[in-house]
Amino acid sequence: MTYIPNSIEARDVASLVHMQTNLRKHQQEGPLVIVRGDGCRVYDNSGHEYIESVAGLWCASLGFSSERLAKIAYEQMRNLGYYHLYRHRSSESAIALAEQLVKIAPVPMARVIFQCSGSEANDTAIKLAWYYWNAVGQPRRTKIIARQMAYHGNTCAAVSLSGKPDMHAGFGLPFANFKHTEFPHYYRRHQPGETEMEFSARMAEALEALIQAEGPETIAAFFAEPVMGAGGAILPPKGYFEKIQQVLRKYDILFVADEVICGFARTGEMWGCQTFGIQPDMLTSAKALSAAMLPISAVLINERIHEAMLAQSDKYGNFAHGFTYAGHPVAAAVALEVQKIYAEIDIVSRAKRLGPVLQSTLGRLRAHPLVGDVRGMGFILGMELMRDGEKCIPFDSDLKVGTRVDAAAMRHGLIIRVVGDRLVFAPPLVIESHEIDEIGQRLERALDDVARELK
Ligand SMILES: Cc1ncc(COP(=O)(O)O)c(C=O)c1O
Repeated sequence: MTYIPNSIEARDVASLVHMQTNLRKHQQEGPLVIVRGDGCRVYDNSGHEYIESVAGLWCASLGFSSERLAKIAYEQMRNLGYYHLYRHRSSESAIALAEQLVKIAPVPMARVIFQCSGSEANDTAIKLAWYYWNAVGQPRRTKIIARQMAYHGNTCAAVSLSGKPDMHAGFGLPFANFKHTEFPHYYRRHQPGETEMEFSARMAEALEALIQAEGPETIAAFFAEPVMGAGGAILPPKGYFEKIQQVLRKYDILFVADEVICGFARTGEMWGCQTFGIQPDMLTSAKALSAAMLPISAVLINERIHEAMLAQSDKYGNFAHGFTYAGHPVAAAVALEVQKIYAEIDIVSRAKRLGPVLQSTLGRLRAHPLVGDVRGMGFILGMELMRDGEKCIPFDSDLKVGTRVDAAAMRHGLIIRVVGDRLVFAPPLVIESHEIDEIGQRLERALDDVARELK
């Protein structure tokens, strides 16, 4: 494709590298340039309107613009636009945000460590797991277990934790100490007649077998998202985390809950840990922490980890870890205001009230000939496209049915996320019920278009 010289599309193609994008295809197809946001809608530079049914990257919980948060950022920047947390320095907004996070944590947590992204939060949690086991005299515990198809970010360590082969290909990753256990996708992977509870037991047995094979004395931590987001909005099957945690406790393996997507009411409770009875030693958070208005992330650590870190200071002096922008006062001030907004609009009650509307509205599309399964909770939902949903027969992958639905949805003014032939929905938490209806209508039109194409 040739672009009008100096058009914004031509300038993009000539200057930018896009993440999670086919770079060759981008040369031909160019970008979708979003110029404005309002509530859960965004607008491109040709004036087309789209409902953003994944809140950008599962993060714009309060929608795509905010006068109130802009004012907070402005005031903080005028007063103190930057300071850091190194060498005993601190700032008011970072302190207040840390206090708030400890207050609302799903289990007792002792301290908060800030970074700027979800990847950095998970990277930090990995380092802390190693630091912990060194402190308590078990330095051989260096291996980390996550799940196949998990998504934990893109730094070298966070992507090693991630279990998506496409994210490792060509990079020489994952690092050797990162192991992946079974992908708990009940709908696709259960055996004939196997109940969810039986499937969960099988997942826990697979984890235990992996621990045994690697040597329990070499395992530092297990990482899991309460609901697997980029793996396709995969809900844990019944009894899953209960059984997984029994295994982890048996071998004294640390549990890190990646709440980067699930935190702040996405699953219908403030934290995914509360929804699924997870008791983590560390919890990582980002995205809706600041409603994605500014980059900030946090690792919450329990007393056990914090005590070991104090012991390390006795031994080594400094806690020799940090990021220049960690706990940035402007990002922290915005995140703090976001927390106030969540309290004012009672984000958890909102998720409990409107989450079921999302589930039932999109759940109705289960009857569509392209749809095999619809599962979700709160404000997160996955829809599986299947040639035969009843018999669980997928489409031939060459048909690229998911990609076709994605393109058709865009034509109907709906932005969705596609993972293979699975459609994923996680709209801004401020979405109203008439907008959920619009998502359902636009999606149905897109599915009808693709059904016609496939005939
Ligand atoms: C569960 C989960 N963890 C971590 C990350 C990485 O966060 P970031 O992109 O802010 O580095 C993501 C990003 O989508 C995520 O979904």
